[in-house]
Amino acid sequence: MGSKEWRVHNPSGSKRVIVTKDLPGERWLDILAQAGCKVEICTSTDILSAADITAAIGNNCDGAIGQITESWGEEMFAALANAGGKAYSNYAVGFDNVDLDAATRHGIVVGNTPGVLTETTAQMAVALTFAAARRVSEAERFLQNGKYKGWLPTLFLGNLLWRKTLGVIGAGRIGATYAQMMVEGHKMNLIYFDPHANKRLEDYLSGYKAFLTARKLPAVNCKRAGQIEDLLREADCVSIHTILDESTHHLINKERLGLMKKNAILINTSRGPVIDETALVEHCRTHPDFRVGLDVFENEPETKPGLLELDNIVKVPHIASATNWTRQGMATLAAGNVAAILMGRPAWQKPDILPFLEGAPPAAAPSILNAKELGIAQYSD
Ligand code: DGY
Repeated sequence: MGSKEWRVHNPSGSKRVIVTKDLPGERWLDILAQAGCKVEICTSTDILSAADITAAIGNNCDGAIGQITESWGEEMFAALANAGGKAYSNYAVGFDNVDLDAATRHGIVVGNTPGVLTETTAQMAVALTFAAARRVSEAERFLQNGKYKGWLPTLFLGNLLWRKTLGVIGAGRIGATYAQMMVEGHKMNLIYFDPHANKRLEDYLSGYKAFLTARKLPAVNCKRAGQIEDLLREADCVSIHTILDESTHHLINKERLGLMKKNAILINTSRGPVIDETALVEHCRTHPDFRVGLDVFENEPETKPGLLELDNIVKVPHIASATNWTRQGMATLAAGNVAAILMGRPAWQKPDILPFLEGAPPAAAPSILNAKELGIAQYSD
């Protein structure tokens, strides 16, 4: 099992499932125990290496729950398949750390945890937006360092986002929820960039515009940008909500930063490599009125030289999904994925994941990414 510490839940279970980090809540443990699993949980907070994980998989392992800090590719899926494994769930909605093709080649069913991070992550994007716009961290450091000598007309002037233009890159679940929070709360006009039109968001905001107009209040507008460049030029605040793949790697680079307003705000709660971090540090150095809020970094847990020292970058350590409700929900969904597949159950296909969080869950795996490829049946009630 490697040198790290592990605890065992339901030792008499006939199937063996490894979990590479301890997870919050109890429901996920009950789900696995009820599926007849002995659950071995790594209690160390150290990031496990591939060698640690393959050692933990050993010769006999039916399933695994892993983390975004681990690279689940050929080596790990081969080890899991050789140990008799059938199911893997990422403890995350994102799965850029998972080689889905490798898993499918080895017959390993892969799950993720969508639907429970949406509002929580959008809320963190909002928090970072205003922390950056209103210079909250910088002002707090000033206070803590005993520099506050009294109210001044020019102390920490920031940006007012009320009725300004919001740019959202990636209008999926989280991006659209963030957009709604910002447009409704701060009456911003929205410009979004996404390969697919988000009709639901557009309809919602046109209803909201009608609501405002009926009350003789200034309207808000929503449009989809044809080019990302248009959004970058127009927006006062840009928030990134894309997935990370080859097409989004360094989507925000030196040239595109150069298109943005000098006092724009840039928020990233998606994945670090979407921004060229070296270019960002340089841009923030030379544009002191440009402000940034980051939850994610290009090469976590490292940050590019100079980033941590820059006052115009607010930074938090990849905690956008960190609320009790969300992290317990993620554990429930990850356990549900593994338990259901080991019990030969079908895959749930509906976007509404909430039935899994309370009461008796549906007899299905909540979110399977390679169900079609591996011939997993679809759930029907
Ligand atoms: C995810 O789920 O993809 C987040 O980045 C971690 O919660």
